[in-house]
Amino acid sequence: MEERQHSVAVVGLGFIGLPLALSYALEGVDVTGIDVNEGLVHRINSGETDLQESHRGSSIREILAAQLEAGRFRATTDYARGAASTDTYLVTVGIPVDGGEVDFAPLDGCIASLGAVLKPGDLVILRSTLVPGTTTGRVLPALERASGLQAGRDFSLAYSSERIAEGRAFQEFRDMPLALGGIDSPSAERARRVLGIVTTAEIVTSDIATIETSKILENLQRDINIAISQEFARLAEGLGIDTYEMIRVANTHRRVNLLTPGPGVGGYCLPYALHYLTPRTRELALDLPLANMARSINEETPVRVVDRLEALLARTDRTIAGARVALLGLAMKDYSGDDRESPALVMAGELVRRGADLRAHDPVVPDGRAYTYASPGEALRGADALIIAARQERFHEMNWPELLDLMAPHPVIMDTRHLLGDGDLREDALIWRI
Ligand SMILES: NC(=O)c1ccc[n+]([C@@H]2O[C@H](COP(=O)([O-])OP(=O)(O)OC[C@H]3O[C@@H](n4cnc5c(N)ncnc54)[C@H](O)[C@@H]3O)[C@@H](O)[C@H]2O)c1
Repeated sequence: MEERQHSVAVVGLGFIGLPLALSYALEGVDVTGIDVNEGLVHRINSGETDLQESHRGSSIREILAAQLEAGRFRATTDYARGAASTDTYLVTVGIPVDGGEVDFAPLDGCIASLGAVLKPGDLVILRSTLVPGTTTGRVLPALERASGLQAGRDFSLAYSSERIAEGRAFQEFRDMPLALGGIDSPSAERARRVLGIVTTAEIVTSDIATIETSKILENLQRDINIAISQEFARLAEGLGIDTYEMIRVANTHRRVNLLTPGPGVGGYCLPYALHYLTPRTRELALDLPLANMARSINEETPVRVVDRLEALLARTDRTIAGARVALLGLAMKDYSGDDRESPALVMAGELVRRGADLRAHDPVVPDGRAYTYASPGEALRGADALIIAARQERFHEMNWPELLDLMAPHPVIMDTRHLLGDGDLREDALIWRI
């Protein structure tokens, strides 16, 4: 009979790690969460999180509180505590990108710490998005060096890419098909049992390099597809055609699936995909012109929105310099609390650079920038222009006609997310929709 898994350690307690840890706890597994960020560990152990996830009617805060109370989940900065409580680690520490270059330092640090406490018989499952070749070329030798153990003989190692979308984490940990590879069959088999505690979906197996590469290409394909939609949107605008209506019609073709354009592409996953390939394409002297072009289109999109605003303001003899601009929604995508690489922040930087009096508001992105305001009314009062850059649930409950009445005469309203209905709008407003 298969032995039941009683405990796991989840390393990295960010957007992926915390809901993943709680998903195991919800299945009755004892979970130790390990993170280097002391403040984060303290907040989590106090039941606090800014993540916008929910599961079966309970918010992640409620789930966290219940699992802490039940004693099934605890966060720590101490790897040794994790090692004392389990033989199975799920690693979710990522590889940031800075100026287009990958930064292995967080992952290397994590693997060095993990290697120092690794015991014979342990299993390490990497869930982070990795530069192809990282599991066997970087993590495996580093674990062996730090532990003095031999991979395959003394410990098991597997890779399973993480494919969930923020905001749907609990559901997609369960029903998104997984790809899994092990350094040997026992590693893959053990990892399959651990993943199977939470997932009910198909687990596809392949070799590790294929899964690492496939994960990047899954993200890259979306980046390219969004760039296509951005380009089509520019064409539709030039032709005087409603982009959303054009996409609705085109997508009735069974073999067409145009994605929705917007103010740009944010988060870690899509913008980083191309950069995760760079270390390998450099070695291979391989060019990826299509992917590079798509990245450029997506990167310049938020700046183009600001250019468009400049042109619209000019119609009423106003300039961005000195104009009061309200920016609603700072998240990197709709209904998210994550503002990493957010196009809204690119727009904010550009607006400030061009001399606008910027007043931004987002009800769920953590506050703290010089230009953020606590309420939409404060952001909109007297504004010459409004840019809606991301949807949030609370935006659907607001009285838009009343709010837009707070704006200056003849305001420019740029709705990049198709949030506002025609009935919400002011008659004297200049409206722009993607
Ligand atoms: N966020 C997503 O929607 C998503 C989706 C699919 C895959 N991924 C991938 O999952 C991984 C995690 O993404 P995320 O969004 O949760 O990142 P994150 O930055 O929110 O979380 C990473 C956590 O790791 C911690 N950390 C850094 N160094 C550490 C160390 N040495 N030891 C222990 N903890 C350490 C950080 O403090 C942070 O809390 C990344 O590889 C990402 O590309 C993310």
